Amino acid sequence: MMKLYILWLFSIQFLLHASISNSGKVPAIIVFGDSSVDSGNNNFIPTIARSNFPPYGKDFPNGNPTGRFSNGRIAPDFISEAFGLKPTIPAYLDPSYSISDFATGVCFASAGTGFDNATASVADVIPLWKEVEFYKDYQMKLRANFGDKKANEIIKESLYLVSIGTNDFLENYYTLPQTRMKYKTVQEYEDFLIALADNFLREIYDLGARKISLTGLPPMGCLPLERAINIMDLHSCVDYYNDVALEFNAKLGWLVTKLNKELHGFQLVDANAYNMLLQIVKHPSQFGFEDATVGCCGTGRFEMGIFCDPKSPFSCKNANKYVFWDAFHPSERTSQLVSNYLMQKYLAKFL
Ligand SMILES: *[C@@H]1O[C@H](CO)[C@@H](O)[C@H](O)[C@H]1NC(C)=O
Repeated sequence: MMKLYILWLFSIQFLLHASISNSGKVPAIIVFGDSSVDSGNNNFIPTIARSNFPPYGKDFPNGNPTGRFSNGRIAPDFISEAFGLKPTIPAYLDPSYSISDFATGVCFASAGTGFDNATASVADVIPLWKEVEFYKDYQMKLRANFGDKKANEIIKESLYLVSIGTNDFLENYYTLPQTRMKYKTVQEYEDFLIALADNFLREIYDLGARKISLTGLPPMGCLPLERAINIMDLHSCVDYYNDVALEFNAKLGWLVTKLNKELHGFQLVDANAYNMLLQIVKHPSQFGFEDATVGCCGTGRFEMGIFCDPKSPFSCKNANKYVFWDAFHPSERTSQLVSNYLMQKYLAKFL
C-alpha cells in the first residue's frame, strides 16, 4: 500500500509537469451531478440542502463557505487545476461570474440531486434534466459571446465530469416507501437509473459533449451517517449498501462500454472511485488520516448541512486528518487523493 502511495506522489509530479507543457487541449471542465461536485449552485435556489455558512469552507481560501460540501475544495477543483485550468470551478447560478469565467470551467451540479426526478424533489434541488437545460443555456451564451467556432470547440474539447447516484439510493430508495413500492427490488431500481443515465449521456452527446468522466457510487455503506445507524454491527460499514454500490457501478461500467461502441467519437470513461475510497476508509493511517469512521464536523455521526454547527465543541481541529468532513462528504484531503487517483488512472489521456 505504501508503495502505491509513493507511486501516486510521483504521478502527481508527473501530472503537474504534463499539464504545464501540454495545456490547452481541454479548454474547460464542465460539471454535472450532486453534492460530490456542486460548487455552490444550491446557494441560489430555495432549498435546505446548503452549505454556504461556517464551518463549511474553513480551509478554503479566505475561509470562504462557498456552498461546497467540504472544508475546502472538491474533486472537480483539483482536476481543473491538474489540467492547467483554474483552481476552482464556479457555480453556474452564481451571478458574480460571467460567461467569460464559465468558458474555462462551469458547474451545473446540485447537492441532493440524482438520476431520478423524485430524488431532486426530496430537498427541492435541481433535477438532472434541469442541469441539462442550464447547459443548453450556457451553450447559447457561449455562441453569443465567442461565435460558433470557438463555442463548438469548447463544447467538443472540454472534459465533462459527471458524479451522481448516491442520493438515489440513500435519500430516495431506502428512505421513501413509495419508491420501494414502485420498484420491488433494488435491482429493478438500479436498472431504472441505468436507463436514465443512458438517456442523459446520449443527450449530452447529442449536444456535442465527447470527453466524459462518469463516476457512480462510493462505498456508501461506509459514509459516517450510515455507520452511525449500524448499531448492531458496532458502527462498521453497512455491507449491504456497499454491495448495492458495487452492483450499480458494474452496471454503469457496462453502460460505458455499450455507449462507446454505439456513439461515434464518444470518449466516455468509467471513472470508478469505489476501490480507492474503500482503501482509504479501510487503511486511513497509510494515507495520513487519523479517523475514517466519523466526520470532522460536530460528533461526526449525523451532522451535515444546517446541522453542522461552527460552535460545536465536538468538531475536530484538523479536518484533513479526517477522511470525512461531515457525516456524508469527504474532507478536502480525501477529495485531493481521489482526484489524483482519477487523474492518473483514467483522465491523464485527456491531458
Ligand atoms: C423528469 O421530469 C422532466 C420534466 O418534467 C420530464 O421531462 C422527464 O420526462 C422526467 N423523467 C422521467 C423519467 O419521468
